[in-house]
Amino acid sequence: MKIMIKEPAAPGFTVRFLSKKEAEEKPLFAQKGLFAGNYLEALFWPSLENGAALYVGLGEKRPGIRQVRETVIRAAERMLKAGIKEYALSMSPLIAAAGLTAIREAVEGIYMGSYRLVLPLETRVDEPAVCLTGIEESSLPAAREELKKGVSLAEARRWAMDMVNAPGNMLRPMDFAREIMARLEDTAVECKLIVSSQLNAMGMRALAGIGGSSENPPCMLVLRYRGGGEGEMVTGLLGKGVTCDTGGYCLKKADSMMGIKGDMAGGAAVAAAIRALAENEVAANVTGIIPMCENRIGPASLVPGDVITSYGGKRIEIRNTDAEGRLILADAMSYAVKDEQVDRVLDIATLTGAVVNMLGFSTAGALGNDEAFMERLLAAAKDGGERYWRLPVFEEQEQMLKSEVADIKNMGEQHCGTITAGLFIGAFAEDRPWVHLDIAGTAWVDRPLFSGQPLGATGAGVPTLYYLFEKRS
Ligand code: BES
Ligand code: ZN
Ligand code: ZN
Repeated sequence: MKIMIKEPAAPGFTVRFLSKKEAEEKPLFAQKGLFAGNYLEALFWPSLENGAALYVGLGEKRPGIRQVRETVIRAAERMLKAGIKEYALSMSPLIAAAGLTAIREAVEGIYMGSYRLVLPLETRVDEPAVCLTGIEESSLPAAREELKKGVSLAEARRWAMDMVNAPGNMLRPMDFAREIMARLEDTAVECKLIVSSQLNAMGMRALAGIGGSSENPPCMLVLRYRGGGEGEMVTGLLGKGVTCDTGGYCLKKADSMMGIKGDMAGGAAVAAAIRALAENEVAANVTGIIPMCENRIGPASLVPGDVITSYGGKRIEIRNTDAEGRLILADAMSYAVKDEQVDRVLDIATLTGAVVNMLGFSTAGALGNDEAFMERLLAAAKDGGERYWRLPVFEEQEQMLKSEVADIKNMGEQHCGTITAGLFIGAFAEDRPWVHLDIAGTAWVDRPLFSGQPLGATGAGVPTLYYLFEKRS
């Protein structure tokens, strides 16, 4: 993808955004009923003098951030379908309505509207080249900043979507780790890969136990980005990296198995957000930790009733092998606290079906043990245009994880499954401020939530994790 800022308008194809009122003022459109400027209406118009145009309607209301994104998605989609690879976007009406931040949003719109999955992941070529025009001379420096940030965030999000969309047999745990390391090679992020034999030697029985269910060995990837001062707070970002979740011996039903390749969306979000932080040299110290594994049936699989000793020392009773995410995140959490000495920690995971029943596909669940950290997270979500809803945590729910034969069990008896799943992970956070995000509903869509949204992976979590460390306004 190539997105540039250029003055004045480039020749060739231009996308022009028109409100209803503006469309009415064009006699040719109005009289012939060709184009009314309705929201998301689109019309190709060949005109020899000024180059051809694609008109996109803005409707009646002043476009906000969301409308900017949607109308640009519509434009990019139409261009992709028409096979037009070079075009200009006339930004002035969008900037007039939403300010310069419209540029960042438009960039995101271009990426989403022209998204398609390309496998293998490194082969993406032949992408559109887009020119943003109609930006005032005096705003050019600020506009360029917006463009740079927009591109790096959109690239990061698209990368996360690509990894999540990649099928499980093409992105096994070690492939996932290698893909991330390769894409972080040109950044200031330091990568450390802990391979299966090391996990075993270290006593990471939860991660090694789940990962041992497959011939494709588990691993854990550690990403260190130090953009902040020495001695300043380090935030741990843990992301679930299950590249294939069959449920193990507590096997999933066939119809709930289609989504299983997307069970590493939390890990992908962590890697992508860290890449964007490094690219923009954001002043923050962040350590990403992504436990990666498959959850299958094999001779070494865990079965319900087993008791294992986790890396943090707590003994865990396995009640359900399909509750694997919390197990591998428990070991990652202990590693974050013991080995990486993080000051606060956030985990993000496609963790429970219960959160989908509760909040649907637009809103993710959040819970934690620290007011200030939670407030900060919710503000970051707002900056990133994502929705999270805080869930309650009380003693009674903590009680639900009590085990008769070990320190804790990996599933509550019944109900409030999203809360008990989160609390299980939090039990390994020691006394660190901790926030948990359950993106099982938001990481994947089978029906679009807004016009033009690509189906499949959504890139959930990427903007919120980024804006946790940089305020938007
Ligand atoms: N990865 C799943 C959760 C999930 C469900 C993600 C639907 C996306 C869509 C997780 O590992 C899981 O299987 N959770 C179980 C937990 C239960 C056994 C306590 C669930 O939610 O059913
Ligand atoms: Zn599972
Ligand atoms: Zn899972």
